[in-house]
Amino acid sequence: MDPYELEIGYKLFVKKQMDNKDTIKAEILSIKHNPLSFYVHYINYNKRLDEWVSPTSLKLDDIFSIEIPKKKKKTEDKTTRKSIITEKDEHTDISYKLKNVRTIQFDNFQLEAWYFSPYPKIIAEQPIIYICSFCLFYFGFEDQYKSHNCKIRHPPGNEIYRKNGLSFFELDGHVQKNYCRNLCLLSKLFLDHKTLYYDIDPFLFYILCKEEEDGFHFVGYFSKEKDSLQGYNVACLLTMPHCQRKGYGRVLIDFSYLLSRKEGLVASPEKPLSDLGLLSYRKYWKEKVFEYLSINRDMEISIAEISKATSITEEDIGAVLSEEGSIKFYDGEPCFILKDWMNEKEGVDETCLEWEPTVKANTEIK
Ligand code: ACO
Ligand code: ZN
Repeated sequence: MDPYELEIGYKLFVKKQMDNKDTIKAEILSIKHNPLSFYVHYINYNKRLDEWVSPTSLKLDDIFSIEIPKKKKKTEDKTTRKSIITEKDEHTDISYKLKNVRTIQFDNFQLEAWYFSPYPKIIAEQPIIYICSFCLFYFGFEDQYKSHNCKIRHPPGNEIYRKNGLSFFELDGHVQKNYCRNLCLLSKLFLDHKTLYYDIDPFLFYILCKEEEDGFHFVGYFSKEKDSLQGYNVACLLTMPHCQRKGYGRVLIDFSYLLSRKEGLVASPEKPLSDLGLLSYRKYWKEKVFEYLSINRDMEISIAEISKATSITEEDIGAVLSEEGSIKFYDGEPCFILKDWMNEKEGVDETCLEWEPTVKANTEIK
């Protein structure tokens, strides 16, 4: 098939640009001419892998492996009003599916964007967005960024925790509006499943920073509704990509539960979790539950007790235990089976927290 005959919505096998190994079935979401290139989504893969590919990456020799969308077949008569509406709607819908930002520069790291984020168009279409890692403001041009000369050395707001070079700052979306808006734009580049909250007033933001000689560097954050009716203690959670897989996600999660314990609440993160969010939470829940069980080895323990001690909901504890095959029944009574895979991990230290709860949520510890 001639690549010029391809249209949006066609599904075909594509050699993934990054690893250049196997071909994967993908859907065409957009097409650019001069030079001809296709924006593809790999079916059953996370959207962060979506990318522009050249015609040479497409498998065009086997015509039967190319799927043409049914809608296209039916509405071939482009003179009908119906087909015009369909195409227009499709276009608006698709513009949000495409990554609009290519690369950001943050703390001397160049990071590829994972998802769409509503940065102003003029900024988003620059090859690199320069983001100040102290105030999180964004610039389309390097000289503007360099002359920005930021005076801020840490996020605005109160430092409520400090230990081993790590600090947490608490920000109120209603008070530190600019910083929190910039933060939402930045985090949307790496968060897909959440809608960006334009109304940041109802949220608190907990920023995790690493202290270095020139100031407190942004590592990650989580946001939290001031008053969550559903008992959520985290709305959005992010570790910057250049800091991931170093244990910071665990620190963020651990801190969110420390605040819940202080508030006397059991809580859970807002659903749905992303793929990486689910992996991180499952691991954390497992560790906390097994830690509690191993300390209280010789006692009869109920899920309610673990929940009370850890602030993790009974539902999340139950899910993780049954998933691990750790609940067995003896004479109809549930028993925990301990496994010895536990190892020491960095967590947060309650004695370093200088914070008193001001907000009461609904799910109180019984
Ligand atoms: N592949 C496999 N396992 C992973 C991965 C990965 N890419 N990332 C995390 N995990 C699992 C691992 O078990 C890991 O422990 P290990 O490194 O000892 O094996 C564990 O999660 C925790 O890893 P951390 O290093 O503590 O977590 P990290 O700092 O990388 O942050 C986070 C995890 C926040 C989910 C990060 O991947 C991220 O920001 N992703 C993009 C945004 C996102 O998806 N956020 C969560 C949305 S859900 C919500 O907002 C409520
Ligand atoms: Zn700045």
